[in-house]
Amino acid sequence: MQIARTVPEVRAAIQELKKRRGDEEATVGFVPTMGYLHEGHASLLRKARSENGIAMLSIFVNPLQFGPNEDFSRYPRDEERDLQVARDNGVDLVFLPDVSAMYPKTVKTKVAVAEVTDLLCGASRPGHFDGVSTVVTKLFNIIQPDRAYFGMKDAQQVAVIERMTEDLNVPVQIVPCPIVRESDGLALSSRNVYLSGEERRQALVLSQSLQLAEGWLAECGGDYRSVKALIEAHIRTSPLADIDYVEIMDYPSIRPAYDLPSTELEGTRLLIALAVRFGRTRLIDNRLFQI
Ligand code: PAJ
Repeated sequence: MQIARTVPEVRAAIQELKKRRGDEEATVGFVPTMGYLHEGHASLLRKARSENGIAMLSIFVNPLQFGPNEDFSRYPRDEERDLQVARDNGVDLVFLPDVSAMYPKTVKTKVAVAEVTDLLCGASRPGHFDGVSTVVTKLFNIIQPDRAYFGMKDAQQVAVIERMTEDLNVPVQIVPCPIVRESDGLALSSRNVYLSGEERRQALVLSQSLQLAEGWLAECGGDYRSVKALIEAHIRTSPLADIDYVEIMDYPSIRPAYDLPSTELEGTRLLIALAVRFGRTRLIDNRLFQI
């Protein structure tokens, strides 16, 4: 497995990999991450590995997508372990830039996707998705992958990246991948390490309420506000849970489902998305429903 830390290095390494294989047409499957890899990331790596000649991973904690009061400086990092996970999952090349390699100058150009970013995490984390779409555009331009793999754990991020690549004709296929969960239902996240034992136990209300929502949705007769209220009430049974948002949106447009005429909702998917704080840790989870 090769490791590249600068833009010229990674570009040269991709050319070299293609040449060494004698296959200039080998497709590049790319998994962008911020590291501290877990089984959710690994599932994306395995899919990229199985569908492409060359499997690539990037690890970069992107300062542009963190707000001033967020956890950029304390975001968990473990390069050695990440490289082992990459090796174990058949990665050919890891791009591991530092901040000065990605942003040698102050950033004057940003990529911003309108409307899809207005609500959910876009509302709670102003500027977050501009940071994401800007860094992902840079990574796509640096690596020029054929396919890029994203987890539905961050469903709004998938909607934003799909819209960005479509609007800007970026020649990459976005491959959404299912959420990987612990056996008790908690969605895997690099941030789960912050949770105390008690917070970890109470955080199960997230996946539980999404499961219960299936029945509530089936019975609500289109009254999505009542489903939202039931989910909120269930989450509040955990005293440590501090709700940031509970929302029901159409997907991938990310418009509130409550007031949309049923004709607009027919045949689309509904996204139930949750963001809840446990102590200093903000967790997100979601589920998509066909209606
Ligand atoms: P990060 O949070 O490290 O996530 C990298 C990828 O792993 C994302 O596509 C995310 O959705 C996916 N992922 C995380 N947890 C998952 C789980 N439990 N199941 C399935 N997939 C999961 O998302 C980012 O980094 C950044 O915003 C990035 C796209 C790299 C841009 O900086």
